Amino acid sequence: MAQKWTPDSWRSKPIRQVPTYTDAEKVKQVEDTLSAYPPLVFAGEARRLKAELADVAMGKGFLLQGGDCAESFAEFHPNKIRDTFRVLLQMAVVLTFGASCPIVKVGRMAGQFAKPRSSDTETINGVTLPSYRGDAVNGMEFTEEARIPDPERLIRMYNQSAATLNLIRALAQGGYANLNKVHKWNLDFVSGTEEGNRYQDLSDRISDALAFMDACGVSGDTVASLRETEFYTSHEALLLNYEQAMTRLDSTSDDEQWYDTSAHLVWIGERTRLLDEAHIEYMRGISNPIGCKVGPTMTPDGLIELIDTLNPQNEAGKLTLITRMGDGKIEDGLIPLLERVKSEGRHIVWSCDPMHGNTVSAEGGYKTRHFDAILGEVKGFFAAHKAAGTHAGGVHFEMTGQNVTECVGGTYEVTESELGDRYHTHCDPRLNANQALEMSFLLADALKGER
Ligand code: TRP
Ligand code: MN
Repeated sequence: MAQKWTPDSWRSKPIRQVPTYTDAEKVKQVEDTLSAYPPLVFAGEARRLKAELADVAMGKGFLLQGGDCAESFAEFHPNKIRDTFRVLLQMAVVLTFGASCPIVKVGRMAGQFAKPRSSDTETINGVTLPSYRGDAVNGMEFTEEARIPDPERLIRMYNQSAATLNLIRALAQGGYANLNKVHKWNLDFVSGTEEGNRYQDLSDRISDALAFMDACGVSGDTVASLRETEFYTSHEALLLNYEQAMTRLDSTSDDEQWYDTSAHLVWIGERTRLLDEAHIEYMRGISNPIGCKVGPTMTPDGLIELIDTLNPQNEAGKLTLITRMGDGKIEDGLIPLLERVKSEGRHIVWSCDPMHGNTVSAEGGYKTRHFDAILGEVKGFFAAHKAAGTHAGGVHFEMTGQNVTECVGGTYEVTESELGDRYHTHCDPRLNANQALEMSFLLADALKGER
């Protein structure tokens, strides 16, 4: 039987991917400060997301999760937040139409500041320094000073997350998310250029549906649900002292329920999901919906063990498994897992991360991803679920609303030689606004196929 869980029970377990701070006293002070700060999200909101994800697990919805690989302090700007939010909404409209079911919208935003690294140190021209672990930990600049982990950065992460979330809430509820308006932005994408014309047909059908509803008196002006949207936040729960400081007892429920109030949903990565270690220990005790990345090394037995550790009550909506297998490997890797989980009756939201299994290096040392490989993995994901008779529940993209050149391909093609033009990511290459939106048009077809 598992030991009793407390918000700090992870501290007695082995842990990886956390920084080594030099001043333990300072770390403690920061943790105490954060523990007294207001929660960023409310338990009731996390419960509502869990209920929406339960519908997805039952085949009655689709999860769209996306945002930066890593948010950064330097890139903090209202327009950037707005633009990423805006593309996610544009994608959501297309997907809602394609799938004819609710799209659960979750940003990799307002808290995604910490990165796992394959090595503790980085060596350039004979100089070895601690690796950059995200703005929550240290600076990206390759200097000794920048790379020293600074606990004060956790406070800055909190503050930037709070401000980001505040803007997101305003945009989601204040009229910006009006369905008619979001569709007009999509029309600009489709009819503005020759490339976009490929999607004219789907876009026309959405226009017709909206015009029909409008004629019936149903529009954003008259109906709140067309004017507003629910938008949730998520990030990788890597820095457990930060997550612990944000973990609060839900005062509105009778039994003891702890919520990580730093985001609605948190996930753990492929490198930290070891059963006897700290990250799993922390994740198994919180009542939020949670995610876990699953890569090609996972076995069916191992997966059942992982599921039963993280979601022992088999609660639908609690656990989202985000698979990252790689284009060409996904069907062989995923089908045995899907079949096993299905035969054992576990409720899972299956989401596809087509980014992390498809990272390659291009000329000039840039890390990149090919649009066609990303699309290939998404298609393989749908094919695997079709073969196993399970629901392809969602997608997880690293993307931005900016016109960056980090991934290659797409109809508005970015070529390898252009990567240096606007390569701004603090970590992995992201789909730009056009590539992300195009992905949603292509996905809409796959979703229609599933119906
Ligand atoms: N409220 C609905 C939803 O969130 C419809 C909606 C309103 C919507 N604005 C939207 C859907 C923007 C997608 C994008 O699903
Ligand atoms: Mn990444």
